[in-house]
This record gives sequence, structure tokens and C-alpha cells, in this order.
Amino acid sequence: MAMYQVHVTTGDTLLAGTNDHVFVTLVGTNGESERTELNNYGIDFRPNQTSTYPVNTQPLGHLLLIKLEISQYLYLPENQWFCSKIVVDTPEGEAVLFPCHRWLTRGEVLELRGAKATKESDDDHPLLIEHRKREVTKRPELYQWKEYTEGIPHITNFEMSELPSEVRFSLSKGLEFTFLKEFTKAELKLKGLFGSEESWECLESMKNTLTFKTSPTAEYVAEHWKDDAFYGYQFLNGVNPSIIRNCPLMPSNFPVTEEMVQPFLEPGTSLQQEIQKGNLFLCDYKSLEGLQTLVVAGNSLPLTAALCLMYLDTAGTLKPIAIQLGQEPSEKCPIFIPSDPELDWLLVKMFVKNADSVIHQIISHLMNTHLLAEVFAVATMRHFPDVHPLYKLLTPHFRYTLQINTAARVVLLGPTGLLSKSSAGNEGTNELMRRYLAETTYSSLCLPDNIADRGLQNIPNFYYRDDGLKLWTAINRFVWAMLGLYYPTDDEVSGDAELQRWIQDIFTKGFLGNRRSGMPESFITVEEVVKFVTMVIFTTSAQHAAVNSGQFDYNSWVPNNPLQLRRAPPTTKGQVTMETILETLPNIGDTVDFIALSSVLHKKYTDSVVLGSYPEERFGEPAAKQIIENFQEELSSIEERIIERNATLDVPYCYLQPSEIENSVSI
Ligand code: FE2
Repeated sequence: MAMYQVHVTTGDTLLAGTNDHVFVTLVGTNGESERTELNNYGIDFRPNQTSTYPVNTQPLGHLLLIKLEISQYLYLPENQWFCSKIVVDTPEGEAVLFPCHRWLTRGEVLELRGAKATKESDDDHPLLIEHRKREVTKRPELYQWKEYTEGIPHITNFEMSELPSEVRFSLSKGLEFTFLKEFTKAELKLKGLFGSEESWECLESMKNTLTFKTSPTAEYVAEHWKDDAFYGYQFLNGVNPSIIRNCPLMPSNFPVTEEMVQPFLEPGTSLQQEIQKGNLFLCDYKSLEGLQTLVVAGNSLPLTAALCLMYLDTAGTLKPIAIQLGQEPSEKCPIFIPSDPELDWLLVKMFVKNADSVIHQIISHLMNTHLLAEVFAVATMRHFPDVHPLYKLLTPHFRYTLQINTAARVVLLGPTGLLSKSSAGNEGTNELMRRYLAETTYSSLCLPDNIADRGLQNIPNFYYRDDGLKLWTAINRFVWAMLGLYYPTDDEVSGDAELQRWIQDIFTKGFLGNRRSGMPESFITVEEVVKFVTMVIFTTSAQHAAVNSGQFDYNSWVPNNPLQLRRAPPTTKGQVTMETILETLPNIGDTVDFIALSSVLHKKYTDSVVLGSYPEERFGEPAAKQIIENFQEELSSIEERIIERNATLDVPYCYLQPSEIENSVSI
């Protein structure tokens, strides 16, 4: 006989108690142990606890699998406990780690494999080959795709309440409640204002009422939102740094003349010269043209397919110099310039920010981070068994994705703008996503390519780019090192059928088989896999942080980023009064609604896991652990450099500080 010590570590536990019997069977190359009850009722259900139990059996040889099951004790209510991992000390003195990381359910028999990552071709024992086969057959049956609506990325077939145990994390029970609670709390604080259809009396009264919560950046925004220089700054470092691009050629439907903008250029130069020097930039909201919007009191709310031209002066300041609130220039759609009456200029700038806010929420945030993360998560769950190196590498980056998306899809699509408060509005939202997905390219999702495509390599004070590229490089180095352990040659890539099915599924269900996108549909080289995996990790962590974390800072002062406007845009100059502006801004009730939303969406949850930290220890190999440590060190040094830089700025850019980035899309 031989003695094995089984150490079981729990995660969060609900309904602490001792109502279940827990059995374990150890399976090794020389046979398996008896199905052994860990003890009568002593298993320790307290959270984050490790308890040790002996298993006596004949020597089992090399340990391959652990079977774990729970059965009911009497008719007592079911305990819910999360098993993080099991470590088995063998009589030979080895400690074998079996990662688990899931809630245990009565009646279910879990078969766990050791922590060593393997591809299909690395498995040599018949039991392991058989186990893998069962897993990869079962997974696509369980995790299926659902078409949310035609033309946008597919989503998971699960609703929040029915998510399988391996993608329901400790947050699951609390998430929905926390979400609603926070929302309600914010609501209550603003009580009396909710639901009011009145317009604000003046901007000052809006400011005075909304002092219940703030942040230094939010205060700065409320103070400086009218400044042209801060306006330009926000297209680089605000919540939506994804629209602005260099303007090497004025679009023919935006007939800005030399004469119009001359006064706003530096002396002795011309529009043409500045275009050639690369100092003109454009935000073009063409994709919003003709979208159906919410109808209020018989009128469709306005949403302009605006064009905004910006100029970068020699001091490095970026300012708007011409705005046209539509794609077709006409007498009714004039080009506004900074020397127009002050309130004209302020209002047209608000219309551009309204267009920007809609694109931000629906495209940059919802589709390009939340929905893409969901595509990557579902494909990962469908095609990789637990032991696959990519399952181990990627699942921490999807930890909360399915939970937050299934819980909050309605919230994200719901009050995020004028496009979605009615079924007609949803059609506008869906059409916008359809238009964008049809144009989405692989390079637009890879930051270095994206920056180059938009001609933004040299624009100064672009912290999103500076920090983002450092992170991209660090993630890329990390992924190279990690995948290098498992894919020493390109042959390993083409021979990995699980990997090929994964990318094929992403291409078909996420990007709808669109070859023009340049999205890979298969992998030939290790380099291709590394780039794609870098993009996946960057998107689910850094990119989401960049478009998510600043929402309270930049959106809580609603005139700065109005998700909704009420009156049609101005068609002639010199007519705008302060009353026009107040009637155009959201009414009191909607303003408060948007503030509550920005406050909920930017909230950080207590069980967040920061970028690069892998508390689950899914990789058992020392080499993999070392690579994770190196990655963490690199992130710390990036952190230091960002903190140093931020100390010199009026408005620090913190959204891509590694310690502020979560490993997965989680809110
Ligand atoms: Fe988010």
C-alpha cells in the first residue's frame, strides 16, 4: 500500500456547510485508487482554504487524472463551492498539480488532468488521449454560437443564469446584484432628478447639482470642456482614441477652403502646405449616415454624420478648425469655423462629440472589445481542452467576459445612446455594428498597424499610443516566449488541429468569413499565431481599459460627451442662443441617467485581476512560470515609466497603467 496526500483548495464558497460527500479517485499509469471519500463530513468548505486528505492505495505509477465527484448527504440543501486546485503528494515525493477552477455540482464527475500543458500530438498515454477526445467532443456541443442579429459577431448560446461551471467565476453570484445595486445607488443619490423631462435652466445649475461624486479628471473636464485645445486632446487621449486619422487629402465632400482656415493656421503657411507636412487630422463619422434613431414625440433624434478637421500647430497643440455636420455640403449644411459666433462653435463641437460618443459606446467599446472578447472566449471553450497551452494562456483573459456580457448586454445596448431605447433604435445600433464589422480589418485590431494605418506615428502627446505600444510589445514578447515552449517549429502549428479549428471558428463566426478583413482563417507559422494571440490579449485587457476606464472622467460632464441630443443641428450661422444649447442637451432625467451609467461602467470590482497576474497557476512548468514572472517585471517597468510621465501632465493618462488594467473584459 502507498499513501497519497490530497490537498484540496477552495475558492469562494457559498452556503458554507458540510452537506455533501466528496469522493476522489486517483488514476495513474499503473491503475487507479478506490473511489475514496475525502472524509465523512469534514471537508472544509470555508473559502480559500486548503485541506489535506489521505488516500491509501497500491502504487499508481505516474499520476494521469483525478476524478472528483460530489454526492448528496441526506436531503440537505446543496453546497456551492469552487474548487481552485488539487495538489497530490505522491509516495515518490512528487507534488502533482491539478488545476480545477470551477464550481462543483452534485452528481457531476469531474476528470482533471495535471497542469502540464500539452497539444494533441504531445499526449501519449491511451487514457489521456481518450480523455482529450471526450473533452473536445463534448465542448462544441455545450458551447454553441448564437446569431444575435445578422451581420454582427455571433454570441454565446448561454444566458447569464445557465453558464457552465467552468466559466462561472466567484463573481457570478454577486455580479448582477452589484451591478444593479450600484446603478440604483447612483440613482437614489440623484433622486428627484430622474425622469424629469425638463431642460436644464443653465449649465451652472447642471454643474451644481452633480457634485455628488467626482474625480480630478472629471473636474478638469467640466472646467475645460469648451477649450479647443482640450477638445482636440480628447480625440487622442479621451475615451475614444480610435477615430482620428491623418488627413493627407481633403475629402471632396468637405470643401474646406484656404480662406476659411487661414486665420487658424500659423503665420506664413497654407492649408495645402500643412496637409503636406502631415499636420491636418480628420474625424469622419460617415458610418452614422442615415441611421434610424430613437423617435421622441414624433421626431427622430438627431445624429450627424459629422466631419471635423483638426490642425496640429508647432507647439504640438491639436485644435478643431472646421466642422461640417453632415456628409453632403450645402447651404443648409455649412462649414463652421472657430471664428463663428461662440455658441455656434460650441454647439457644433457638441454635435461632433455626440457622434463620437455613439461610435465609442457601440463600436469601440461594445463591439470591438466586449463582443470580440466573447467570440474569442466561445471559440476557446469550444475547441481547446483544459490542457491545451492556449486554453491555459487565454482563459484568464476571458475570466469574466461571458458573465459580464450575458449580464450586461442589455445595459450596454440599452441606455448607451439614442440608438437603442426602442426596437427602432436597436435597428440603428445593429446597422451601425453591421457597417463597422463589414469594414473591420485585422490590422485595425493590431495597435502598431492601426497607428500606422491612421498616420499617427508622430503626432505628439498621444499617450494612448505611447502606452498602448509599450503594452503591445510586452504582451507580444510574453506570447512569443510562452508559445515558443509548445510550438518550437512551424510544423507544430500546422499539425495542431485544435488550433486550426479555433481560428477557423473565429474567422467564420466572429468576422463572418469576410476575407477582405485580412483576418487569418488558418495558421501556418508560429509568428502568425503569436501575433493573433497578442491581439486577443491586448483587446481583452488594454484596449478595453482604454475605452472603458475613462467613462466617468469624460462622460459624467454630459455636455462634454453627450450620448444623446434633442434638437436638430444648426443649419445657419448666428442663430444659436444658450437656450438652444440647453434645449439640445439631454433633459434633466436623461442627463442623470447617463451620469449613473458612466459611474457604473467605470467602477472597478473588488475581485478584479490585473493584467499579467495569473493567480490560477494553470501552467505547472517552471519555464512557463518564469516567463510569467518576466512579463510581470516588464509590466512593472512600464508602470513606472507611465507614472513618471504622468507626473508632468495637467491631465494624467492612467487608463493604460498596467496596475489599472484588468486581465479580462469584466465591466
Ligand atoms: Fe466595458
